Amino acid sequence: MTSPATRSVRLTGWGRYAPAQVLTNADLERMVDTSDEWIVTRTGIRERRVAAANESTASMAAVAGLRAIHTAGLVPDDIDLIVLATLTPDYWMPSTAALVKEAIGNTKAPAFDVSAACSGFVYAYATASAYLASGMAKHALVIGAELLTRFLDYSDRGTCILFGDGAGAVVLSASDEPGTPVGIEMTTDPQGAYMIWLPAGGSKSPPSSETIARGEHHIRMEGKETYRFATRTLASTSLAAVAKAGWTQDDVDLIIPHQANVRIIEAVAKGLDLPMDKIYVNLDRYGNTSAASVPIALAEAVNEGRVKVGDKLVFVAFGAGFTSGAVALEWTADPTRGLGADDAVRAEDVAVRLPVNWDSVDPIPEALAEILARPLPGHMDLSDVVPGEPEHAHATN
Ligand code: ACO
Repeated sequence: MTSPATRSVRLTGWGRYAPAQVLTNADLERMVDTSDEWIVTRTGIRERRVAAANESTASMAAVAGLRAIHTAGLVPDDIDLIVLATLTPDYWMPSTAALVKEAIGNTKAPAFDVSAACSGFVYAYATASAYLASGMAKHALVIGAELLTRFLDYSDRGTCILFGDGAGAVVLSASDEPGTPVGIEMTTDPQGAYMIWLPAGGSKSPPSSETIARGEHHIRMEGKETYRFATRTLASTSLAAVAKAGWTQDDVDLIIPHQANVRIIEAVAKGLDLPMDKIYVNLDRYGNTSAASVPIALAEAVNEGRVKVGDKLVFVAFGAGFTSGAVALEWTADPTRGLGADDAVRAEDVAVRLPVNWDSVDPIPEALAEILARPLPGHMDLSDVVPGEPEHAHATN
């Protein structure tokens, strides 16, 4: 039997899924007292994606997961561990990972969710790495998926402009061959516990008409405190992971940070004394997709040719908790492998089984549905993203 200590872990697959429906800053101007100019200047965000009524965190995760499995050159049953990070699960129970396991056609993997908000993907990555390194699994599917637009207060301009929906995934594979150094750092600072939180719906404050009347089922955030924590911690967490990999910051070729706010990312670049061209940014198109943000950015960076074999990468995130996490790794996979994944796995071919005799009620918040139903000129119609019109969904996801 292989000694657990000898197993190395490689990233072998990557994939992402973004719903087709776009919500622009101009759309938000019609909902709250804000402006495109304010949002772009303060955050860098120009638009974000909104899941269609028939989509859920699990359905988006399944598409991203299948694309990552395709990129890895595996089939779903090669996966023997599924770890999914989300703060917006389909249900309190079962886990979203369990629904994804069935949707991707996997029969072998234990599947569970990880809760660490926007740092969730890094925490899930660390969890899966430990399983693989110890010999408990051979191929892990690690997913970050979020459907945040159903948890936002569309009268709170401080939060509703920031977030969007999507999913990203990687496959990690164990090998008996010697690996390249990996550094992983994670922190949790509970002093920030109520800086980003969703007050009601849990055991401390179960859902009731009163909690709903008080709007406690929506995400709340102290923007300034969160901003301060993010700028402080992203650089220090990255540096700790880099040191654990045995590198210095000058060795790093590309940082893939949590896509929350371009000003936070610029501050981190400054803190690390790295030029912005060593930092991948796509938040202008997606906003903050929480646990999905790093794996979406990773898949796009690789598919855009920003990564080559031997490059030293850092994934770094921060989020509610406060949490932070970073992974420093050397890239070993053929970066062109992911290019056909979106064509090979089409969103309309993937389905999550629904319960019998039950249907969700009005999944899209009323204020958002109203805006989406009255698109601005040139705006895409919601019907473009429902199954049955594959050419539209296929072209844009
Ligand atoms: N449009 C126009 N004006 C606005 C908006 C808006 N959307 N939002 C706030 N304002 C106003 C405020 O009311 C305030 O007005 P006042 O001066 O009259 O009181 C003014 O703009 C400045 O507000 P600030 O909150 O000071 O704005 P700031 O520059 O801090 O930007 C922001 C706010 C963008 C939220 C910033 O604080 C931020 O990005 N924080 C980090 C948030 C974050 O990354 N969260 C992700 C957490 S990850 C997770 O786990 C979910």
